[in-house]
Amino acid sequence: MDNLEQYILDNTKPEEELMHRLERETYLRVINPRMISGHLQGKLLEMLVRMMRPKRVLEIGTFTGYSALSIARGLDDGAYIDTIEVDDELEEIAARFFAESAYGSRIRQHVGSALDVVPRLGECYDMVFIDGDKREYPAYYDMLMDGGYVHSGTMLLADNILWYGKVAEPTAHNDKHTEAIKEFNRRVVEDERVDNVIIPIRDGINLIRVK
Ligand SMILES: C[S@@+](CC[C@H](N)C(=O)[O-])C[C@H]1O[C@@H](n2cnc3c(N)ncnc32)[C@H](O)[C@@H]1O
Repeated sequence: MDNLEQYILDNTKPEEELMHRLERETYLRVINPRMISGHLQGKLLEMLVRMMRPKRVLEIGTFTGYSALSIARGLDDGAYIDTIEVDDELEEIAARFFAESAYGSRIRQHVGSALDVVPRLGECYDMVFIDGDKREYPAYYDMLMDGGYVHSGTMLLADNILWYGKVAEPTAHNDKHTEAIKEFNRRVVEDERVDNVIIPIRDGINLIRVK
């Protein structure tokens, strides 16, 4: 961690003990622990939720539950988040931390691919956090925008849309992840139905508002 990153952390309200434990357990027990949102991004999600006050939130990609819990913390009573994870081996860790949290009752946990589960749930969301398989980002976007799962005013937040800076370079042969993220960002900026801005926090968030 460089000095500036440390300074930012030192001057941001500290991480709750439960969230710290979830992050530690993720690093000890799960493959690719770096996928976790972590404190700064979690706190940003919580703050954005407090500002937007959505009633229904969707998350694609629960992983071990860090971002779902961060979002749940910011929700008003009666609001909820549907979070979807395709890897059933991650279900137990997330469920255990949701049960332990005072905000866990605001979380509805689903196992399966978001591309199957979202149509089955048939809800219309005020906010969507897209954090699943990067190669599927264009498919998530089309599903959400064309399937009636968003409305005028819905905010979509898509994570990792800078992909370690690779989006600004020519795509290497067969690099499906970078190709899909570039396609997603292109689709968004060319789509007349939305407004958007890219926030360069961590690996980048594309903040998209449905007009
Ligand atoms: C970057 S991680 C999510 C991190 C999590 N949001 C957090 O902040 O801690 C991406 C997750 O998306 C899951 N995933 C991949 N494809 C998916 C799909 N089609 N539907 C739901 N989840 C998916 C992966 O298994 C992985 O756990």
